Amino acid sequence: MKILVTGGAGFIGSAVVRLAVARGHQVVNVDALTYAANLENVASVAGSPLHVFEKADIRDRAALDRIFTRHAPDAVMHLAAESHVDRSIDGPSDFIETNVNGTFNLLEAARAYWTRSGKPGGFRLHHVSTDEVFGSLGPAGRFTEETPYDPRSPYSASKAASDHLVRAWNRTYGLPVVITNCSNNYGPFHFPEKLVPVAILNALHGRRIPVYGRGGNVRDWLYVEDHADALLLVIEKGRAGRSYNIGGEAERRNIDLVSTICEILDRRRPRATPHADLITLVADRPGHDARYAINPDRIHRELGWRPSVTIEEGLERTVQWYLDNEAWWRPILKRHGLGERLGMKT
Ligand SMILES: NC(=O)c1ccc[n+]([C@@H]2O[C@H](COP(=O)([O-])OP(=O)(O)OC[C@H]3O[C@@H](n4cnc5c(N)ncnc54)[C@H](O)[C@@H]3O)[C@@H](O)[C@H]2O)c1
Repeated sequence: MKILVTGGAGFIGSAVVRLAVARGHQVVNVDALTYAANLENVASVAGSPLHVFEKADIRDRAALDRIFTRHAPDAVMHLAAESHVDRSIDGPSDFIETNVNGTFNLLEAARAYWTRSGKPGGFRLHHVSTDEVFGSLGPAGRFTEETPYDPRSPYSASKAASDHLVRAWNRTYGLPVVITNCSNNYGPFHFPEKLVPVAILNALHGRRIPVYGRGGNVRDWLYVEDHADALLLVIEKGRAGRSYNIGGEAERRNIDLVSTICEILDRRRPRATPHADLITLVADRPGHDARYAINPDRIHRELGWRPSVTIEEGLERTVQWYLDNEAWWRPILKRHGLGERLGMKT
C-alpha cells in the first residue's frame, strides 16, 4: 500500500513510518518540521526506496494538491498536529490553525483527489485523535466510542473539532474515513517536553522532576510501537465511517508512573540517593483532567489487536532507549522553551 503520512517526523508519526516501511509499505512522509519534529526520528528509513519525505504544511492547500497528484496514495494517515496541552493554554491559535484548519484543508485536498480518481471504495483517510476529546472521568468508568465529546483544553477542543469535520466529510461527501482515539503514548523518540521523557532526562541530570498538583491524575499508557501497530491494522482492516478507541489498559497515577521510572533508573543508572528524591510537586495545570481511561473492546473484538508489551516492560525499554540515545536528545534540549514551565498563562 502507498500511504501518505502527515506528521511523520513527530513522535507517533515516525513510529508509524518506521513500522510501515518495515512491513513493505511505501510511505510519503509529509511534515512541516515544526519545533516538535525531528528528521532523526526517521533516519533509519531515510535511505529506503520505500520512504519519500515532503516538507509541507497541511495548511497549504496548493502544496497538498501537488503531493496528492505526484504520489497518488492509496491511503492517508493524518497525525500532523500541535500536540502539547500546556502550549495550547499559552498560545491556542496555532492549535486552531493546524488541528482544525489544517485538517479541513487535508480533507478537501483528499476529497478532490479521491473524486478525480473515481471515488475508489478502498481509499482511506485515517484521522489519528486522542481520548482527551471525551473529557475527564471520575474514579470509575472508561471511554467507549459512544462516549459524548466533552473537551476541556484548547488542545482537546481543537482535536474534537477536527474529529467532527472528519465525520462530516464521511457523511456528507462519502469520503471513506476511519478515526482512532488513543490514550497517552510513551516510548522512544518522545519529544522531551512530555511527562515521561522529562522525568527520565531530569532524573539523569539530577534535576528536580516536576509533577503537577498532587500527582493523582490518572492516564492510560500505551507503548508507541504498539500504537503504530494498531494504526496500521486500522488502515488495512478498519471499516469506513467507524472509529476505534486504542488504549493499553495500563492506568497509572502520574506520581506512580514517575516513581516507576525512578526505580528503573536506580537499577540501571544508580546514584548516591534514590532518583525519587528529585520528585517535586508543582502548581497544577489549569483545568487539569482528573482521569482518562480507554475501553478498547471494539479494536480487540473487531480487529484482533492487543498491545504486545506491559507498561513495566515498555517503561524498561523506554528508559534504556534514552540511556542509549543521548546523541538524539542532547541537541533537542537546547531548543527554545524546553525546561521552562508552560501552560500557566490563563
Ligand atoms: N502523544 C500522545 O500521547 C497522543 C495521544 C493521543 C493522540 N495523539 C495524536 O497523535 C498525533 C501525533 O502526536 P505526536 O505526539 O506524535 O505529536 P508530535 O507533536 O510529536 O508530532 C507532530 C508532528 O506534526 C508536524 N506538524 C505540526 N503542524 C504541522 C503542520 N501545520 N503541517 C504539517 N506538519 C505539521 C510536526 O512537525 C511534528 O512532526 C497528533 O494528532 C496527536 O493529537 C497523541
